[in-house]
Amino acid sequence: VLAALPDYFTPDTHEEVRQRITGEVGERSPRCWVAADAGSIAGFVLAEQRYAGSAEITYAAVLRERQGRGVGTALVEQALSTLADDEVSVVLVKTLDASAGYEPYVATRAFWAARGFRQVDCIDPLPGWEAGNPAALLVAALRTTC
Ligand SMILES: CC(C)(COP(=O)(O)OP(=O)(O)OC[C@H]1O[C@@H](n2cnc3c(N)ncnc32)[C@H](O)[C@@H]1OP(=O)(O)O)[C@@H](O)C(=O)NCCC(=O)NCCS
Repeated sequence: VLAALPDYFTPDTHEEVRQRITGEVGERSPRCWVAADAGSIAGFVLAEQRYAGSAEITYAAVLRERQGRGVGTALVEQALSTLADDEVSVVLVKTLDASAGYEPYVATRAFWAARGFRQVDCIDPLPGWEAGNPAALLVAALRTTC
C-alpha cells in the first residue's frame, strides 16, 4: 500500500512498517487494522501505545483507487474504538504541516480534522523526519482526563 503511494510515503517507510508490525522496532507491540476484500488489501492503520492512556496512529494509508469511499474512516473509527476500550484517552497523529505547501497533504489534514483530530503544534525539524518536512502534531480526545 505504501509503495503505491509514493507522493506520501518514502521508500524507507516500507521497511519501517514491516519492522514495527513484527515488533523489531517500537516499544510495544503495535496494533494494525487492515481493510481487505477479495484477497486484496485496500488500506491499513497502525497504532502504537508507548505510555498508559495514550497512543499514536503511526501510519494510515488507503490505495488511491479506494480512497474517498469511507475505507480510511472505517479503519480509524475501528482503531479509536478499540483504543478507547483499552483505556486510551488521547491519540496522536503526526502529519505534514500546512506550512510545507505540499498539496497532497491538504486532503490528509482535512481527513484527520473531520475525524476529530486537532492540531496542537508544528515541529520543524522533527527528529527522525527528513529536513524540510514540518510536522503537524494532531490529537484527538477519546474521553476527558480531568
Ligand atoms: C488519508 C486516507 C488514509 C483517508 O482514507 P480514505 O479512505 O480516503 O478516507 P475516507 O473515504 O474515509 O474519507 C474521505 C475524507 O478524507 C479526505 N480525503 C483524503 N484523501 C482523499 C481522496 N483522495 N479523495 C477523497 N477524499 C479524500 C476528504 O477530506 C474526506 O473527508 P470527508 O469524509 O469529510 O468528506 C487516504 O486518503 C490516504 O491513504 N491518503 C494518502 C496517505 C496519507 O495521507 N496518509 C495519512 C498520513 S498522516
